[in-house]
Amino acid sequence: MAGVSASWQHSFMTAVTLPDGAQTVEPDRTIIVRRVDFAEMLAAMERDFTADGDVISAHVLSVLSGLFPDGEEMFIDSVRHFRHLVTDPDLSRQVNSFIGQEVIHGRQHRDLNARFAELGYRSKVVEHFMQFDEEGLTPGMHLVIRVLTKVGPMRKMLSEMEERRAERGELGPDPMFELALTAALEHYTATMAELLLTEADLQNQFSDQDLFRLWAWHAIEESEHRAVAFDVFKVAGGDEEMRLRAMKVAGWALVFITSWHVTIGVLTDRRSWRNFGLARSLWRQRNNPLLGKKFRRRLADYYRPDFHPLQRDTTALENRWRAWFDEAAPRPTPSESLALVNF
Ligand SMILES: [Fe+2]
Ligand SMILES: [Fe+2]
Repeated sequence: MAGVSASWQHSFMTAVTLPDGAQTVEPDRTIIVRRVDFAEMLAAMERDFTADGDVISAHVLSVLSGLFPDGEEMFIDSVRHFRHLVTDPDLSRQVNSFIGQEVIHGRQHRDLNARFAELGYRSKVVEHFMQFDEEGLTPGMHLVIRVLTKVGPMRKMLSEMEERRAERGELGPDPMFELALTAALEHYTATMAELLLTEADLQNQFSDQDLFRLWAWHAIEESEHRAVAFDVFKVAGGDEEMRLRAMKVAGWALVFITSWHVTIGVLTDRRSWRNFGLARSLWRQRNNPLLGKKFRRRLADYYRPDFHPLQRDTTALENRWRAWFDEAAPRPTPSESLALVNF
């Protein structure tokens, strides 16, 4: 990790300091905009693409994919809104690569969602759920406001935010808060990316290895650009209170919207009710890293006062997976991959 002391990599207690004029701790970070095309793989993809016909994992993948295209458009817009404040040419380059990568993710996931929909999944319904209306809100946001401002541990914070939004009379959330949401959600995607690249139990959910390749490509790029939105948020003068509030909102919204659609998808899927499909799938979830302690611990790092996304050094992991994706090197095993990030 260039330009960062070893002790800093291993300690969350040491604050990040930047040289004069620098706005990124890692000026030469590799963020590659890859021109990928998964059309052939999509055409061949079948309705069953998870191991042992795991119906829950199939719907989780299709719902997450449904969230990406418009979610990532929001990420791009929120970063673009403040990019005029980026004066460091290195961060500016990283912003361009971040935008380039997210544009291609959105495009590929829209194609994947179309194929998922043909196969009977809810990905297009979820995509619609993420589209902004004339009020500057998405159907998903309306649902979150309707339900989570009335019940659940977030109701006080969310109803205050909703009141403030109504008072401002402006459409949509405050741009700074949107950027804070982007930085928080990028911590989610980077953390999920690391799990996908290191955890056998997550990789083993895929029976379709070409579909795994698509998700691994997205994971590599999420890991590469993990710090960009966070750095822009800092450059834009985003404060700690907002950063932490956005992380809470992002987490609740993500869990709520995902479980909503996955539950409907699974309950209306005939495979759930044949050959104990749902029971078998529920049993498999006991090992799902996305429901595990490690995932929650990594997410909670974001609440540390001096958190920075590059405190966790994933450079070696990215290099190894890049060699597989870009240069056709053998696919790294989960234990090899874990050894590259376990410190
Ligand atoms: Fe992405
Ligand atoms: Fe991203």
